[in-house]
Amino acid sequence: ALNNAWNDACKWNGKGEAQILIPSGNYFLNPVQLSGPCKRPINFRNTGHLVAPRGPTKMSYWISFYYLNGLTINGGYFHGQGQTAWDRAQQIDPSHALLSLAFVNNTNIRRVKLFNSKKTHVNLFSCNNVEFARSLISAPETSPNTDGIKIAISSFIRIRDTVIKSGDDCVAILNGTNNLNVTRVNCGPGHGVSIGSMGGTPGDVVRQVTVTNCTFSRTLNGVRIKTWAKPNSGLVSGVSFMNIIMDRAFNPVIIDQNYCPSGQCPKGESRVQIKGVKFININGTSATKAALNLQCSGSNPCKDVRMDNIDLGYVGPGGGPATGLCTNVFGTATRVTLPGSCRFKKKRLI
Ligand SMILES: *[C@@H]1O[C@H](CO)[C@@H](O)[C@H](O)[C@H]1NC(C)=O
Ligand SMILES: *[C@@H]1O[C@H](CO)[C@@H](O)[C@H](O)[C@H]1NC(C)=O
Ligand SMILES: *[C@@H]1O[C@H](CO)[C@@H](O)[C@H](O)[C@H]1NC(C)=O
Ligand SMILES: *[C@@H]1O[C@H](CO)[C@@H](O)[C@H](O)[C@H]1NC(C)=O
Ligand SMILES: *[C@@H]1O[C@H](CO)[C@@H](O)[C@H](O)[C@H]1NC(C)=O
Repeated sequence: ALNNAWNDACKWNGKGEAQILIPSGNYFLNPVQLSGPCKRPINFRNTGHLVAPRGPTKMSYWISFYYLNGLTINGGYFHGQGQTAWDRAQQIDPSHALLSLAFVNNTNIRRVKLFNSKKTHVNLFSCNNVEFARSLISAPETSPNTDGIKIAISSFIRIRDTVIKSGDDCVAILNGTNNLNVTRVNCGPGHGVSIGSMGGTPGDVVRQVTVTNCTFSRTLNGVRIKTWAKPNSGLVSGVSFMNIIMDRAFNPVIIDQNYCPSGQCPKGESRVQIKGVKFININGTSATKAALNLQCSGSNPCKDVRMDNIDLGYVGPGGGPATGLCTNVFGTATRVTLPGSCRFKKKRLI
């Protein structure tokens, strides 16, 4: 039924947009690819509950939107049924996404409720001008690799007024992302908003990312930039983390240029250049002592880092103050109350 409706809507050539309306009710839906190009913009309006098949899947998507210019996804419940598959996580396609958008421009996703994807909830690949707003993404803290929103090769993306609870990154920002704003997002549980891993292949670039007025509750990380400890070139620049509240985050503010979970990386430091990163107005609590932890590359130190008004307290065993640890960081720090090596007023290499 959905494929038929899509085909009709896609070739309709009337005035304004073509609407697909899913009435209220529960619908079992097999994986589906909804492809363009279409004649008119499409309004995909869901007033019901869509329910995915149970168990693992070898498909890279449940619902895929492909090659479109002008798409609204408005409302409704999307049940990925990951809870019937996570115990066999190796049998799920690693790139699986509940909603996959590839080569889609000028898109508005709003008031959707996405539950329990088998892996990633929303994957944006090669998309331009996307707004994702007033929505909920929810999966348990223990669910494997259930990223909230994953973005690559995409530009002019806005994520706002959204709650994301997941077992992995709330927002994962990968190579080729530029001009991304994340505003008024509450993340937690989850692994925070994360740029990277960068430098897995040569030439990874992420530019112009702004994260504002967000809260991180009981997350593994808050705001993070991570690069492989491999000598691949790359660039992360023009990143602002502003007006952030941490509620018992484990690594509230972190740059890790030594990422190598297997311990099997070739010799040599990360050559991904991180520059122009601002951490401004970040307050609340940290569940570990190293509340501010910026570990940059020796061969390509972080440049033009600005820290201002960072006030994080440690809440955890033993008590005592939170600390700020900086290695290979050039920049300025004002109103950083944490003891440690991140309290520099003049431009200086730590
Ligand atoms: C999306 O925009 C890009 C850049 O402007 C363009 O190259 C591409 O063809 C557009 N894709 C669609 C599906 O309209
Ligand atoms: C992101 O926010 C900045 C500052 O408010 C604004 O100048 C920019 O246009 C925004 N970008 C997008 C993609 O909305
Ligand atoms: C990284 O992103 C750039 C810019 O969008 C793109 O040209 C390049 O192919 C990407 N690299 C990989 C390995 O996908
Ligand atoms: C963030 O919140 C502050 C205080 O409420 C407000 O002044 C500012 O405009 C907000 N910024 C964004 C990008 O929404
Ligand atoms: C953090 O900042 C917010 C907004 O500026 C304020 O309401 C809150 O009391 C602050 N919390 C702490 C722990 O300083």
